[in-house]
This record gives sequence, C-alpha cells and structure tokens, in this order.
Amino acid sequence: MRISELKDFVDQQVEITGWVIGKRSSGKIHFILIRDSSAFCQVVVAEKEVHPEVFEQCKHLNIETVIKIKALAVEEPRAKLGYELHLKDMEVLSTPVDEYPIPRKPSGPDFLLNYRHLWIRSPRQSAIMRIRSKVISAIRNYLDQQGFYCVDTPIFTASSCEGTTTLFKVDYFNQDVFLAQTGQLYNEATALCLDKVYCFGPSFRAEKSKTRRHLTEFWQVEPEFLFARLEDIINLAEGMIVRIVEEILTHHQIDLKILDRDISKLEQVKAPFPRMTYDQALQLLQEKNISAEWGKDFGAPEETKISESFNSPVCIHRYPSAIKAFYMKQAPEDNRLALGVDILAPEGYGEIVGGGVREEDIAILEQRIDQHQLNRDDYQWYLDLRRYGSVPHGGFGLGIERTVAWICGIHHIRETIAFPRTIDRIKP
Ligand code: 4AD
Ligand code: MG
Repeated sequence: MRISELKDFVDQQVEITGWVIGKRSSGKIHFILIRDSSAFCQVVVAEKEVHPEVFEQCKHLNIETVIKIKALAVEEPRAKLGYELHLKDMEVLSTPVDEYPIPRKPSGPDFLLNYRHLWIRSPRQSAIMRIRSKVISAIRNYLDQQGFYCVDTPIFTASSCEGTTTLFKVDYFNQDVFLAQTGQLYNEATALCLDKVYCFGPSFRAEKSKTRRHLTEFWQVEPEFLFARLEDIINLAEGMIVRIVEEILTHHQIDLKILDRDISKLEQVKAPFPRMTYDQALQLLQEKNISAEWGKDFGAPEETKISESFNSPVCIHRYPSAIKAFYMKQAPEDNRLALGVDILAPEGYGEIVGGGVREEDIAILEQRIDQHQLNRDDYQWYLDLRRYGSVPHGGFGLGIERTVAWICGIHHIRETIAFPRTIDRIKP
C-alpha cells in the first residue's frame, strides 16, 4: 500500500516500502522520515516496540536507504499530512553506496538543478509531477469529451509561426530547418478535415530572456476548430481551465498540502472569467497609476497588475494587430485590432493561454507575411488552406508549465517539468 492511503487504515497494521529522506534520534526513540510514490510520512521507532536488531539498524539508516516496514498507522494532527507510522518490523532492501549529495538543509536552485535527476525525488517536486500528470489528463479528457481529435504535428518544421527571433535552427541533412514553436499551422490544415482537432506536444523557443515564466522547451495543448468565433474560443479555454482546477482540487489535496498551496485561491476560480478588451486593460492600468502606451505588448509587471484585480483568470482580447502574429484575423470593426485573446492566470502567473480567430483573407495574409518579413514560398501550403474549402476557424494554445506553476503556487516554471530546458541549462 501507499502512504497516501493511510487515512483508510488508521489503527491497522500496514506494510509500506519507502525511501528514507530524513532521520533524528533521541536515545530510546528514532524518527525516520520516509517517502514513497504518493507522499511522505514519519515513522516512529520506539526501542521497546521493535526487536533490538531492528532498533540498532535504524540508528544507521542513511538518506535513500530503501526499507520495507510493518507499522501501525496512527492519526497525528501535528503531522503535515495528518498521519504517522509506529514501527513494528523493518527490512532493508537497498543501501546507498555513498552519502546522498543533496543535503537536508536548503540549497540554492543551481545546486539543486545540477542534481535534478535526484532532486525530483523530494516530496515537493514529486507532488508537482503528480499534479502535472493530472493537468494533462484533465485536458485530454475535456477535449476528447467534446469530440476533439488528437493529431500530432511535426517538430521539425521549415518555417516560423510565432516570429523569427525565437527559432532554433537544426541541420537537417545540410538544410536549415527549425524546431516547432507551435503546431498551429498544421492544426489549421487538419481542422479542415476533422473540424475539432488538437495537438499536444513540446514547443521550442530560443528565448534569450531569463525569466521565471520562460523555458526554451515547453509543452502546449493547442485546440483548433471550424466556425470558431472569438467568444467560442474563450469559452473553450475557460471550460478547460475550470476543469483542470476542479480535477486537481478533487484528486490532489495531499499534493496541494505538500506544496503548502493556499487552496482557497483555487476554489475561487469560477466561470465566467472576466473579459475585457486591450483598451479596457490599458484603462485599468491607468487607474492603478501604471502608464502603459497604446500599441505596446504587456510585460510581466502589467500582466501582474491586471490579474491582481480578479480571483479568476482574466481574458484580454483585441490587442493591436501589430504586436500579434501574422495569422491573427483583424477585427471587423477596427483593422488595427486583432481578434485574439490572452488569458492571464491569477496571482501574477501571467499569460497561460494565447489564441484567436485566424485570418481567412488570402490577400491580407500575404500582406501580413510580407510585413513580418517571412518568405511567401514557405507558406504556399498554408495559403492553400485559404484557397480551397476555406471557412472561419480558430483556436488557442495553453502552456502546461505556466498552468502547473499557477496551480501549484510555485515561483519558477523550471520546477514544473521533470528536466527543464532554459537558456543556461541543458543538463541533466
Ligand atoms: O501565445 P503563444 O506564443 O501562442 C501560440 O503559440 C499559438 N500558436 C497558440 C495557438 O493559438 N494555437 O503561446 C501559447 C502559450 C502561452 O500562453 C504560454 O502559456 C505558453 O504557450 N508559452 C510558454 N511557456 C513557457 N515558456 C515559453 N517560452 C513560452 N512561450 C509560450
Ligand atoms: Mg502569447
């Protein structure tokens, strides 16, 4: 059985296999902290309760010794997760060959990231990985239930979609190709056969900025569907985010506790999310005495200020076209604006969703491709989608790491993926 199940076995004898993560002793009693794949727990070893050999063995347990124990499960209100184990018997399954390189006392992020392959074993990091896994399955279930087909899009690509400044170039048999920044353009092709599609995979951006919100390799889910109006796109994203939060609150209370997450913040996330135009967001910033110029994208400080006013994520639409990607449809009422939306997470976690309606007009698209100094030849296949059987469509991309960072309430998104890739980190 697993530590997370202890609540169902109070005052019963249980058998658990665990890894030692800490130990302290006071003469006639040892306190051993163990972890398993589900949580962590303190094991109390009283001299009079166990065989003298076992008590002696406990004295010499090092970090990452693997033990199989028989113990009594006891309710303990002072314990973080509410339970404790009283040892009856123990067998050592594996002894570490050396002292564990990660000390118990807090270490700096660089040190920990060098030992990422071991750091992920810590209760906090494991909790984040469990939550991430559930975030992903919640998204897949949500889209599958709404009739979306999952279509995998290529990682090697010949052209840019989200700007040329963040492309990773790869030598592909003496030809320059790029790692995908998004699957969107391919989604637009497959949507015209399957209507509701999504891709779910890694995206690559050569982000030169060292911020807590940027990785060079991150995961995105990108739904795309036909006849999508901007409000349909926002509704789909809103429903997805609500579902993610519900699933985590339902199934991951122990992990949220391990992370010391203030769950009242997550419980306040309810549809409908506030929606406002870029212009209204500028006005909101002005009211908060932040000067933001029309035509500029919001940076992290502006996004944080905007989201501070709300308990739920906030949807900002109709940004100036000039600061958005070439494929965004212009608003019919004002062609300086794009029918696009960004959704900002609460508590300053920034943009978790970017999306919108796609430009259908082939002449406007060609113009935009030129304005963005892209090579029209590379986009002929994409323009074919407008030449044949074209209908209005749109979609969005939700970044998994930023979403997980917000749900878990952790500062830097590098902790939301098992092996993060940033401008200055490619190992381990
Ligand atoms: O806003 P972005 O760039 O949009 C697209 O890629 C569209 N093609 C999506 C679509 O409409 N199908 O990225 C979408 C999301 C962002 O909102 C953010 O959550 C995440 O991807 N993201 C990053 N996450 C971590 N590190 C980075 N460098 C990220 N860049 C974007
Ligand atoms: Mg964006």
